[in-house]
Amino acid sequence: MARVFITGSSDGLGRMAAELLLEQGHRVVLHARNEQRAKDTKQAVPGAETVVTGDLSSIAQTRSVAAQVNALGKFDAVIHNAGVGYRSSTRTATEDGLPVEFAVNTLAPYILTALIDRPKRLVYLSSGLHQSGDASLKDLTWEQRPWRGQQAYSDTKLHDVLLAFAVAHRWPEVFSNALEPGWVATKMGGPGAPDDLDAGRRTQVWLAVSEDPAAKVTGEYFFHQRLRTPHPATRDPQLQERLIEECARLSGVSLPDL
Ligand SMILES: NC(=O)c1ccc[n+]([C@@H]2O[C@H](COP(=O)([O-])OP(=O)(O)OC[C@H]3O[C@@H](n4cnc5c(N)ncnc54)[C@H](OP(=O)(O)O)[C@@H]3O)[C@@H](O)[C@H]2O)c1
Repeated sequence: MARVFITGSSDGLGRMAAELLLEQGHRVVLHARNEQRAKDTKQAVPGAETVVTGDLSSIAQTRSVAAQVNALGKFDAVIHNAGVGYRSSTRTATEDGLPVEFAVNTLAPYILTALIDRPKRLVYLSSGLHQSGDASLKDLTWEQRPWRGQQAYSDTKLHDVLLAFAVAHRWPEVFSNALEPGWVATKMGGPGAPDDLDAGRRTQVWLAVSEDPAAKVTGEYFFHQRLRTPHPATRDPQLQERLIEECARLSGVSLPDL
C-alpha cells in the first residue's frame, strides 16, 4: 500500500482522488489553504492521516507546506492537483507580486517538487486548455500583456506539462507524468461541465499507485488512463529548462539536477 500526498485536496478532484485512494487501502495526507479549510477537510475525509496547511499563492507558505510534508516522512507519490481557474477578469497579484494563477498553478508545484523529499512518483494536473498555452514563455507574470484570464490559466497548464517532463528528464528514477482530467463539474469546472466526474479522478490515482505497467512510465501525458498527445512544444528540452530557470529565478528555489 502506498502513501500519497495530494495538494488542494479540500475539495474537487483532489478530495475525490483522496477518497478513492482510501477506498483502495492507501494512506493519504491532504492539504488545505488555511486552518479553517483544514478543519473542513478533516471532517470531510476522516480517513486521511493528516492535513497540512498553506496558501499556495504565497512562496513563503508553499515552502512551509514542503517543510510540513517532509516532517511527516517519506511519500511514495505526490499529486500536484491544486489549481485556480480560468475565469478571472483581472490580474490579481499575490503577496509576491505574481498573478495568482501563475503562483498557484505553476510556481507552487515547481517549489514543492524541488523541496519535498523525492517520492517515487509525481503526478501533475494539467488541462486540455494547455493546448492553447503560450509556448513562447514570454511575460510569464503578465506585466506586459493585457490580462486575459483564460489565456493565463491555459499558459499555466502548459507549464505543468513542461514541469512534469523536465522532472522526468532530470530525475530518471522517478515516474513524472501529467494528465488532463476532462471538463468536470467541480467548483472550478462549474455545474454544467459535460465530462465524467468520477473518471476525472481516476488517472491521477492510477499514476500515483498502480502496478499496471502502463502507469509505471515517465514523461508522458494522459487522459482517462490513455496516452494523449500533448502540445508539441512540451517535448522541447530547451523550453522545459527555460521554464525551470524562470521558476528558479522567481521563487529563489532551485531544482536539483539529479
Ligand atoms: N474541473 C475541471 O473541469 C478541470 C479541467 C481541467 C483541469 N483541471 C485541473 O484539476 C485540478 C483540480 O481542479 P478542481 O476542478 O478539483 O478545482 P476545485 O474544485 O476548485 O479545487 C481546487 C482545489 O485547490 C485548492 N486551492 C486553490 N487555490 C489554492 C491556494 N491558493 N492554496 C491552497 N489550495 C488552493 C482549493 O482549495 P479551496 O477548497 O479552499 O478553494 C481546492 O482544494 C486543477 O489543477 C485544475 O486546473 C480541472
